[in-house]
Amino acid sequence: MKALILAGGFGTRLRPLSCTRPKTLFPIVNRPLLQWIYERLAENDVAEAILAVNKQTEWFIKQKKLKKHGLKIRYSSDPLNTPLGTAGPIKRAEKLIGHDEPFLVLNGDIFADLSYREILETHRKRKAVGTIALCEVENPSRYGVAELDRGNRIKRFIEKPDRGTAPTNFINAGVYVVSPKIFDFIQKGKAVSMEREIFPQLAQKRVLYGHVTHGLWMDIGKPDEYLKTNKILLDQLFIERKWQYSGDFTVRPPVALDNHVTVESRSVVGPYAVLGKGVHIGRGVQIRDSVIFPNVKIGDSSSIEGAIIGEGASIGKTVKVGRGCIVGDRAKIRDDVLLSEEVAICPGKEVSENILEPKMLC
Ligand code: GTP
Repeated sequence: MKALILAGGFGTRLRPLSCTRPKTLFPIVNRPLLQWIYERLAENDVAEAILAVNKQTEWFIKQKKLKKHGLKIRYSSDPLNTPLGTAGPIKRAEKLIGHDEPFLVLNGDIFADLSYREILETHRKRKAVGTIALCEVENPSRYGVAELDRGNRIKRFIEKPDRGTAPTNFINAGVYVVSPKIFDFIQKGKAVSMEREIFPQLAQKRVLYGHVTHGLWMDIGKPDEYLKTNKILLDQLFIERKWQYSGDFTVRPPVALDNHVTVESRSVVGPYAVLGKGVHIGRGVQIRDSVIFPNVKIGDSSSIEGAIIGEGASIGKTVKVGRGCIVGDRAKIRDDVLLSEEVAICPGKEVSENILEPKMLC
């Protein structure tokens, strides 16, 4: 089976971190999300992955030199300055995908531990044109919701229904199998939305099915979801991989420290701290519920809680970074600064004064 990975969106909800990397390269417990996706595809006997990107995303991905796990990787780029949405890139990749067999489509911002083979089996049995992996969630209002009949045919597909109005709690997991017939439904060279334009048409023609899955599923599209994804995976991996860290500092598990991390005395790391490669933590620092990207420096007596700190950022001494804050790559927070809650600092920005209310500083 071939897989098309949609990875050419703008990731506006993850700004400012998505200004300097595509969503699919955000680190999840110190590995780019796309690396996790490659691994999962290879485990499900997928032979070839086609990355539906834009030129910028393609450049970023190539720089990363990810392990391919035996997959053949190809790129299909949207035309310059014309993002094709979530369905347009499928049509664009028609030649690369071919017309021989059903193929898999994945949103590149989803962490999913699902059996792609099972979705394919359902798809074949039903002779469907599209089969969407469905996850059950508590609050479906932020997602595309499927209304099913008894045979799991999707009767209706409602994108982001108002709270309390969703007919079911089964949401589009951003993973689906489609047959080559899908190419007939998508107009060439135009931005087309799979969720808003194509799925409703398929449902109306009674050729769209759902496959309910129960595996681990997370969307990293917003900062809180990104942190939660790291948190859930940390819980799982810390037990599985029996990571142990020692030094003159306190570890409150679960935590993950990548290579070349240095932590000085009296610091407390965790719970739920992910420290990327080459991170340096000074003395008496406290870090919890946070993801620290590679090569960040954090000065003595600072505290970081519920925040994301971008690559190469520098945090001074006695700085406090509060919940929901995002510090962009290479930004500099001077000594004694307080960033209270939900403050976002753009890449490279220097901050020398307290910011006490939610805002983005560019
Ligand atoms: P937001 O701006 O935060 O909504 O993010 P997004 O538009 O990047 O993501 P969305 O969740 O809407 O898209 C789902 C997946 O489709 C993501 O993996 C995106 O990278 C991808 N995607 C979205 N728009 C495009 C596009 O125009 N072209 C391509 N090639 N991929 C896209």
